[in-house]
Amino acid sequence: MIKPIYLDYNGTTPHDPEVVNTMLPFLKEHFGNPSSSHYYGIVPTEGVEKARKQVANLLKCQPEEIIFTSGGTESNNHAIQGIAFSLRDKGNHIISSQVEHPAVLEVCKYLERFGFETTYLPVDEYGLVDPVDLEAAIKPETILFTIMHANNEVGTLQPISEFSKIARKHQIIMHTDAAQSVGKVPTDVNSLGVDLLSIAGHKLYAPKGVGVLYVRQSIDLWKFCHGAGQENRARAGTENVVGIVGLGQACEIAGRNLLDSIKKMENLRDLLHEGLFSQLDDIRLNGHPKQRLPNTLSVSVKGLEANKVLEKIKGEVAASAGAACHSGGVDVSHVLKAMQVPLEWAKGTLRFSVGRMTTTEQIEHTIEIVVKAIKNQPGPLEIS
Ligand SMILES: Cc1ncc(COP(=O)(O)O)c(C=O)c1O
Repeated sequence: MIKPIYLDYNGTTPHDPEVVNTMLPFLKEHFGNPSSSHYYGIVPTEGVEKARKQVANLLKCQPEEIIFTSGGTESNNHAIQGIAFSLRDKGNHIISSQVEHPAVLEVCKYLERFGFETTYLPVDEYGLVDPVDLEAAIKPETILFTIMHANNEVGTLQPISEFSKIARKHQIIMHTDAAQSVGKVPTDVNSLGVDLLSIAGHKLYAPKGVGVLYVRQSIDLWKFCHGAGQENRARAGTENVVGIVGLGQACEIAGRNLLDSIKKMENLRDLLHEGLFSQLDDIRLNGHPKQRLPNTLSVSVKGLEANKVLEKIKGEVAASAGAACHSGGVDVSHVLKAMQVPLEWAKGTLRFSVGRMTTTEQIEHTIEIVVKAIKNQPGPLEIS
């Protein structure tokens, strides 16, 4: 069976073969617990500490500033709840944005039960938060900014370093969810100026169920996952050694090839853009035309039902939709809503995200398949 062309790298990535080779000895032989002081604990401990250095090299920070977690969701929970509870005597106000992943939005909502309050900043038509709005939203009680680096749906890159300058000026902690940007664009924590940064392993060719929280050394962060003293007492639970060594290697590969990879992604993404825009009418780009992830192309076709098109081509291309149409109506993503994409466009939103294994031939083939499927779609559909 020929598998569909995979264009959903923002959803998850395949494992890089080099990542697999790094993990294999830890699956086959080095099963020991890093906490064991006997023979079997030695290689797993070395593996985890090597990975810590590899992640730190990519982020340009100290290895001691890296906490391994179970993924992007846990990293965000740890960062936001850890700061909220550590600084609750100082204030109860958090500033975030309307386009965050649920792994941030739901944490802020949960904290409201404990007396915290969040301001969700609006975005412009490109999905950008305005630094002027951010500064204007600060109150004496503001303790934390949590704004994503890159948006998972449209790829827009926020001006995080500008937000960090504002944070520093007002002595507010700055966290960014970099689940989508690490490995795709430079994520040097000092250039970004952030105090905390979240990584999800499975977005950069490492396995699912492993992630990182970077915590600047000066930050006092409350523990999120309680138990034994692993991760220098910062995160309890026996380490996911296999996942951690895989993530370390994935970070090394990302750092080694970053500039080449950006160029390659952009070329493939732009080829797809060109192919679709030259053959389809009533098509628009979502997200910022330039300040955007190199691999992400979100487009809307007026009057189309994107999930019907994806259903039709699911044997040939795997991509994702920006809205789910069902008998009760249309559920448009909160990101497209915040960007004020009109409903008749939003429901026709297709997100393509290319990656390391994508080829020019796959993109050319995708253009043919998608154009044909859309042109054969019955005329503008009624908006329910
Ligand atoms: C921006 C963003 N943040 C957080 C997450 C959650 O990461 P994980 O799946 O590792 O929990 C994702 C995953 O889709 C994401 O895209």
